[in-house]
Amino acid sequence: MEAKFDVELVKDVKFYYPPPEVKEKSWIKDYSVAYQEFLADPEAFWEKMAQELDWVRKWDRVRVWDYPYAKWFVGARLNITHNCLDRHVMNHRRNKVALIWRGEEDEERVYTYRKLYREVMRFANGLKKLGIGKGDRVCIYMPMVPEQVIAMLACARIGAVHSVVFGGFGVTALNTRIVDADAKLVITADITVRRGKTISLLPIVEEAIVGASSIEKVIVLRRKSPQSELQSGMEVDFNELMEDVENFCEPETMDAEDPLFILYTSGSTGTPKGVVHTCGGYMVGTYYTTKYVFDLKEEDIYWCTADPGWITGHSYVVYGPLAAGGTVVISETTPDYPDPGNFWNIIEDLGITIFYTAPTAIRMFMKMGEKWPNGYDLSSLRIIASVGEPLNPEAFEWYYHVIGKDRCPLVDTWWQTETGMQMITTMIGEPMRPGFAGKGIPGVVADVVNKEGESVAPGKGGFLVIREPWPAMLRTIYKNDDRYRKYWYTIPNVYTTGDLAVKGDKGYIMILGRADDIILVAGHNIGTAEVESALVSHPAVAEAAVIGKPDPLKGNSIKAFVILRVGNTPSDHLTSEIIHHVRMTLGPIAMPSEIEYMEKLPKTRSGKIMRRVLKAKEMGIDPGDISTLEE
Ligand code: PRX
Repeated sequence: MEAKFDVELVKDVKFYYPPPEVKEKSWIKDYSVAYQEFLADPEAFWEKMAQELDWVRKWDRVRVWDYPYAKWFVGARLNITHNCLDRHVMNHRRNKVALIWRGEEDEERVYTYRKLYREVMRFANGLKKLGIGKGDRVCIYMPMVPEQVIAMLACARIGAVHSVVFGGFGVTALNTRIVDADAKLVITADITVRRGKTISLLPIVEEAIVGASSIEKVIVLRRKSPQSELQSGMEVDFNELMEDVENFCEPETMDAEDPLFILYTSGSTGTPKGVVHTCGGYMVGTYYTTKYVFDLKEEDIYWCTADPGWITGHSYVVYGPLAAGGTVVISETTPDYPDPGNFWNIIEDLGITIFYTAPTAIRMFMKMGEKWPNGYDLSSLRIIASVGEPLNPEAFEWYYHVIGKDRCPLVDTWWQTETGMQMITTMIGEPMRPGFAGKGIPGVVADVVNKEGESVAPGKGGFLVIREPWPAMLRTIYKNDDRYRKYWYTIPNVYTTGDLAVKGDKGYIMILGRADDIILVAGHNIGTAEVESALVSHPAVAEAAVIGKPDPLKGNSIKAFVILRVGNTPSDHLTSEIIHHVRMTLGPIAMPSEIEYMEKLPKTRSGKIMRRVLKAKEMGIDPGDISTLEE
């Protein structure tokens, strides 16, 4: 590692100290005590967490670690939806609000635990009617509506493995994910709503399933009026499916190690990776972190702005908060529509107490000015949180002062699709250091190491790794176990996260960004390989390479370097056409914001494109510095 990426330890060390009562009232009173308790006996620590939940049969062993494969709660049997629904319906939470949905026109839909429980069971019975059962893969491609959550839980109820694909992905991205998972069914909606406009989803599905021979049916939530036409035979109406079914659906008893879902994430090469999470460990990990990292209490109104199409939505909109019996808010709205006060209006209106969002949103709010949040009463907030990319110190300060009013602990949570649960943060009540996510939470051993796996000295840059298996870790990459093994074999005996980091004093970790060819655009993982293959599928493009270019709002934007096929000449028109092509293929989040036409691309002798050289040129630095960053 070059000294360039090291961090000054002594100067300007700034910590924010939360008010003492925060600690007194939080579930974990003292981080160090809790961490020591974990270190002294990791299995006993996790067993205690698992005891807080209901199981059909308890485990014979808490953990079996057969490097690089871990099994958790071995021999245990459960259904996660029993813990998210039945458990609450049987106690004082029966009529507690489980879910509040907000739409763009201020529409509101409220589900108590009992109502959600009934809807999930009816939809689960509908799925059974279509012949879906344990182990079948179901693709969910929906907007952020309660039915998206119901569809996920209904799959889990009957043991079907859901693969949620973010509703902003395009035809090819959706097709690749359906085909890889051999999904039998797609659950979708005819439209999604964004900034006062409706965007059609159904035609994307109809195109994406061409050639996907595993698909038997498409369930469509019809939102449009007059109602969209359905293709007879193949397409089934979401609500009609729930008619004429039993109200009760027995939860399928699952083994703790049975798969719960697959979620695709970008890889640095090739096709997206189907990250496989299992029922038992994932349930314990997400429940534990929701309760203890967010300090979730009975009376909280909790809002995570992520779409369930991403892991944040899986773990911290659906499974974690519902397992913990929380009241969850979801909103099919954008931060600045109808005006930049939208999020603050929702916080005031619903009395949100815990707010979880992404740095890209925070930076956007900063740009729009304090007058927007200052126009609303944000006094209900007690905890503010961030996820998805590094929260730069300026954004930390703004979020802490302007939104948290110097009163709310700010938890910057580092984790990944693969980790399933939050891993590194500054636990509530601990001093917060802007720019630093924090330390491994109790249960997690995080470190910064060199290529040999040795811890580097404080202030030195290195690879972020996790030293011990944890319950919510991925178990494999669907149909590609070799790719799973790489996580644990790149540096022997540790899980390599793919991120670069540096440890400051007090052991706090600062995340520097990705070490590989993944670009974090507005907190979303975009693989260079996927964008490049979308680019070369345009008839005018012969070759393409993409890089992440620092962007003040989105963290990174995508810049593409393109060699045109003979007979084509660069023009603004062609640039917009190519960008539009990527938009249709992969979706708006993967769209390059810039294209530069090249005669040649820098390559290694074996023909691999050297993106680092392009990046160095773009950033005006010596490529040598970049090679250490992107080994
Ligand atoms: O680079 C890290 C960044 O997001 C990556 C994981 O992306 P994904 O699997 O899509 O999951 C995102 C939501 C959990 C990480 O490898 N990342 C995530 N959280 C942070 C972060 N970088 C810095 N600080 C964070 N808090």
